[in-house]
Amino acid sequence: MFNIILFGPPGSGKGTQSQKLVDKYGLVHLSTGDLLRKERKLKTPLGLEAQQFIDKGQLVPDEVVIGMISSALDENPETRGFLFDGFPRTVAQAEALDRLLALKKSEISLVLFLEVDEEELIKRLVHRGKTSGRTDDADENIQRKRQEVYKNETLPVATHYGKLKKVVTIDGIGTIDDIFARLAFHIEKKIK
Ligand code: AP5
Ligand code: MG
Repeated sequence: MFNIILFGPPGSGKGTQSQKLVDKYGLVHLSTGDLLRKERKLKTPLGLEAQQFIDKGQLVPDEVVIGMISSALDENPETRGFLFDGFPRTVAQAEALDRLLALKKSEISLVLFLEVDEEELIKRLVHRGKTSGRTDDADENIQRKRQEVYKNETLPVATHYGKLKKVVTIDGIGTIDDIFARLAFHIEKKIK
């Protein structure tokens, strides 16, 4: 399997680029944000519990998201690989993912790190908030909180995979197509 983590702060373009990457490379897209929003829409107990964290810009507890990812891995035994978007977001999640993949005789092949400065991120999310209907987009204070949580809890995930020499940093500023070309370049270098 070829497994990619698309990494980066809230608003860096992970969702936007994931769509194009899974089409091109035939991977299964696993976005914990999308999975949690789906649960919320269905008003499941998990969805309702998660909503309290999402609305404050905080992370949902590790056990909840790790459980969702574990089920999703089991549901797709025949895939060429997975594209993880918005997961792992803590070192504990990264370690759990590494273990789950090892059980399937697989591993993370590549971590693509989209770098975008904070002012651009807030600008993008304020803009998205006008149409997305996402409760965590509506308020600039919540967006700032999400950026802070990212720096404190999620950035160490890059260090974790950096030690394993799996991280490639990509300039996340530019047109969507330019950024896609940068990502594709590194994927193809790795696939060969
Ligand atoms: P999640 O849904 O994962 O949100 P996020 O990481 O905060 O990231 P976003 O979806 O906001 O941004 P993105 O990088 O996908 O950018 P996008 O492509 O949309 O998580 C939401 C919440 O769920 C978390 O806060 C947490 O509570 C919970 N959660 C989720 N996963 C969790 C986990 N693993 N553990 C614990 N809790 C978890 O782009 C952003 C905007 O910019 C769009 O409007 C887009 O059109 C625009 N844009 C994209 N590319 C460009 C470009 N090149 N130039 C200009 N604009 C662009
Ligand atoms: Mg997203």
